[in-house]
Amino acid sequence: MSKTTVTHLMKMKSDKKKITVLTAYDHAFASLVDAAGVDIILVGDSLGNVVQGESSTLPVTMDQMIYHTQMVSKAAKNAMVIGDMPFMSYQLNESQALHNAGRFLKEAGATAVKLEGGVSVVSLIQSMTRIGIPVQAHIGLTPQSVHQMGGYRVQRDEERLLEDALAVEDAGAFSVVLEGIPSEIAKKITNTLKIPTIGIGAGIHCDGQVLVLHDMLGLVHRDLPKFVKQYEKLHQRILDAVQNYCDDVRNEIFPGNKHCYT
Ligand code: KIV
Repeated sequence: MSKTTVTHLMKMKSDKKKITVLTAYDHAFASLVDAAGVDIILVGDSLGNVVQGESSTLPVTMDQMIYHTQMVSKAAKNAMVIGDMPFMSYQLNESQALHNAGRFLKEAGATAVKLEGGVSVVSLIQSMTRIGIPVQAHIGLTPQSVHQMGGYRVQRDEERLLEDALAVEDAGAFSVVLEGIPSEIAKKITNTLKIPTIGIGAGIHCDGQVLVLHDMLGLVHRDLPKFVKQYEKLHQRILDAVQNYCDDVRNEIFPGNKHCYT
């Protein structure tokens, strides 16, 4: 298997092969995700929710994203690594945005960056792609605008969503995440665009799917949106393992002879 590239993803769309994407935030999990054959690892700013214990993605900083992306890049042998630009790392001005996008490639080993927004980020996408930074756009429910949207709400304005999707494609994005939009609208966008759509809460018709790793593995105990499928309940298995360890220590069962030096 060779490393996923942007041309490879375009071919997957034309061949109608579904693209698999999962998030990861550290070397151990990224190694497993990569070994399992996922096409893209997204170092998402969902880091805030599932690693840092924050209630939104807003507090995540650029330096934190670089630190986590470095760990993931070292583990990814075949998967493309995308670094997610955190809130206020690209909103101030173009030179700040280019500098921060460049850091993901230069310091953290990512292949591409992701940023939230449609029409509003067109000129940023143009500037980034002009200097060789591949950009994945993210439209629909954009968690960095949670306060503007009045909560994490499904986005249903079809005209606006199509306009955003076409705008980011024209600007040079190599792919677009569609989050929290009705399946029929995602289908229309996917059939209209030449670039691959990656859905999360956007139904079956997208060219690929992304989930937050900790949610699909059931690693953290939190309320999950309807669109998450849990493939494991690791939360409970880890709780059991740690409780067993505590019992063994308290009852002098661990360490046993085989764990001791003579
Ligand atoms: O931050 C993230 O993990 C994301 C995905 C859920 C698309 O943006």
